[in-house]
Amino acid sequence: MGSFDLVAIGTPVWAFTCTPAARAFCEQYADQLQRVAFVATMGGSGDARAYKAMEGYCGVAPAATLTLIDKHIKADDPEKYTAAVEAFVQQLVETQ
Ligand SMILES: Cc1cc2nc3c(=O)[nH]c(=O)nc-3n(C[C@H](O)[C@H](O)[C@H](O)COP(=O)(O)O)c2cc1C
Repeated sequence: MGSFDLVAIGTPVWAFTCTPAARAFCEQYADQLQRVAFVATMGGSGDARAYKAMEGYCGVAPAATLTLIDKHIKADDPEKYTAAVEAFVQQLVETQ
């Protein structure tokens, strides 16, 4: 992997954790990941556990996390997630 200031890793939540593909990515590049952010989509719960697991696989705590709920995206209702996206970006800017 090349050199990046930030790697944002996204995953749907499956069985209260990240997908095997996300896990594989984290583990494969753990030694090169210095600054990470995690993004998850989910039906309703399991994001916190997924982020903890990913933190373990990456060996680094995320600078920010963003959780998006399936039905909010599918309903195309930006009011439901715009604040969360903005907070996520703000957190990344502040901790740069
Ligand atoms: C095998 C499987 C397990 C899932 N487990 C969870 C779960 O534990 N918690 C949750 O909130 N949603 C769960 N979901 C719902 C997905 O997280 C949700 O549909 C997904 O984030 C949508 O992203 P996608 O369209 O990229 O799959 C699960 C979905 C699948 C297919």
